Amino acid sequence: MNIEKTDQKIWLFIIAPILIIVALVIGIKESFLALILALPFMLLMKNQFLENKVAWKDEYSVGIEIIDNDHKKLLDLIVQLFKVLNKVKKDERAIEILDELIEYTVSHFNREEELMKKHEFPGFEKHLSEHDNMRQKIKAFRENITTNTNKVSSDALQFLQDWLVSHITVTDQEYAKFFEQKGVKIN
Ligand SMILES: [Fe+2]
Repeated sequence: MNIEKTDQKIWLFIIAPILIIVALVIGIKESFLALILALPFMLLMKNQFLENKVAWKDEYSVGIEIIDNDHKKLLDLIVQLFKVLNKVKKDERAIEILDELIEYTVSHFNREEELMKKHEFPGFEKHLSEHDNMRQKIKAFRENITTNTNKVSSDALQFLQDWLVSHITVTDQEYAKFFEQKGVKIN
């Protein structure tokens, strides 16, 4: 699912009727002025919405404290990136956070892989190939930033967020269920 496109549709459905009503009540010229004045507030609302969406939720838990803490940290770094991307002079700080996110993602993947291998999770190979895929993608993002733009694009960030949330909520739940059935205690 492309969350970004869904969000855009939601925002269109919320904002468009409001604009039409305002234009009918106060006139086209005045509503244009009101729109300009309301723009910072609308951006703030949008950011708040995105931050809430990516924030940690208890249902994401895999029942393993060390892994849950990793996932919390990764989501928190993405929220930090969202915040920074909406600021002036954002790029240097955004790249710092992205580097931390990449580094942490790699060490987190290693931690998960060690656990899956140690407890002989049957879906290990499939999970590993998802991790490998992501390792390559984030490496390519980083190289692209360095060589081409020196900017963290919101598209790249959206991709990271979508991937991470779906990985935590679907793929990671598979080994969590297996560990639970096998009676593996990790904390
Ligand atoms: Fe994973």
